[in-house]
Amino acid sequence: MHRKAHTMTDIDASLENAATAFVEGVQYTDAEQWHASAAKIRAEDPVHWLEHDDFNPFWVVSKHADVMNVERHSNVEFLANPRGILTTKAGDAQREAEGGHRIKSLVVMDGDEHKSIRDLAASWFRPSNLRKMESRLDELTARAIAKLEAADGEIDFATEVAMEYPLQVILAMMGLPESDYPRMLKLTQELFGAEDPELGRNADDVAAGLEETVMEYFAYFTAITEDRKANPTDDFCSVVANAEIDGEPIGVMEQLGLYVILATAGHDTTSHSMTGGLHALIEHPEQLARLQDDPGLLDNTVDEIVRWTSPVKHFMRTATCDYPLGGKTIREGEDVFLSYWSANFDEDVFENPWSFDVGRKPNSQIGFGFGAHYCLGAILAKMEIKNLFAALAPRIKSIELADGAALSRSAFVSGYKHLPIRYELT
Ligand code: HEM
Repeated sequence: MHRKAHTMTDIDASLENAATAFVEGVQYTDAEQWHASAAKIRAEDPVHWLEHDDFNPFWVVSKHADVMNVERHSNVEFLANPRGILTTKAGDAQREAEGGHRIKSLVVMDGDEHKSIRDLAASWFRPSNLRKMESRLDELTARAIAKLEAADGEIDFATEVAMEYPLQVILAMMGLPESDYPRMLKLTQELFGAEDPELGRNADDVAAGLEETVMEYFAYFTAITEDRKANPTDDFCSVVANAEIDGEPIGVMEQLGLYVILATAGHDTTSHSMTGGLHALIEHPEQLARLQDDPGLLDNTVDEIVRWTSPVKHFMRTATCDYPLGGKTIREGEDVFLSYWSANFDEDVFENPWSFDVGRKPNSQIGFGFGAHYCLGAILAKMEIKNLFAALAPRIKSIELADGAALSRSAFVSGYKHLPIRYELT
């Protein structure tokens, strides 16, 4: 598919500058500035053609209705392959040279292939398995509260509490021992935080660092597959190891894709909701008080936390035909960048989007996406966030931010990597 060049002559430089907020990971570390830029794009050029030195050009889609429009047309007018996630020009070139994605996971599959692999993964997420997770969530919440009690009024909530909780949930659902925690922590950090010097394996050569990461985990998961073939249980790894499509076992790369998406998709995303949710409650003490007075608001609070934090900042799609969107025409072969964070603050959809409202209703946030790729773990993620805040909110007597809160540097999955707090529990 070919790409048509666009002329930039009539595009306002300040608009172009604002649009860089969507692609430069570092800009996601300043939420206020980022939202100011996104609001400008929504108001002035909501479907915006972006050209940037580091990236092949694409359309930024900033409004809720337009993101939904693209999501509703998955598989036909818009495909997740090849460019499901923003990569640099160098990353695109490497992928093309290698003939496709190194790890082909659900988020870059389409059509029948996507449906058959998604159905396999979805088979684990049935209500009976989710119910079985409840007791593990209770234990992890109790552990989190015990940590807060033991820390004597000062802790980095991100590294000490929120980072661990969702990953322990994933270990439990995959049937992996708690002792594998450090290894799995490294996997997510290196894959998602590759460009953050504090998190990536090799910030000077991101591609080489990622290559090493993939090889290491390939070996690790191959051993697990062998074990679950010999000793199947009801865990997620057994589903993957013994998966068949039309009577044929799925390939090793499909297996790796499933392990990696599960191990990563539910980790940073959920912990960023927890940290961002607590940060929002600290910054809006009247909302914390409201939640404490009325625990019946918890479900609404969880949705509002996901809207407010939107831990997954984007996915991308490629048009298979010319398609009208927000007054522009997306040409066949061009890519669109779906900005969930921007869509979740769209003034046309959310009343007072800038107010964090624990009772917000209706709340049509699209932090979990929509349509064919809608987050498989959305119910589980909401259960986790609810379980934690149900126990934590009533215990908070006082709480404030301490120095050192920091958002991670990523245009893909981002949130607080540090959230030092001072608090008193009842
Ligand atoms: C896909 C967000 C937690 C597993 C997605 C997508 C988003 C998302 C935006 C893509 C949707 C689209 O393209 O329309 C989130 C957020 C989470 C979260 C914000 C936490 C607050 C989880 C958890 C799991 C999970 C806990 C599993 C344990 C997946 C999987 C996919 C996915 C497997 C791929 C689905 C597909 O492509 O068909 N998630 N997620 N997520 N998520 Fe989540």
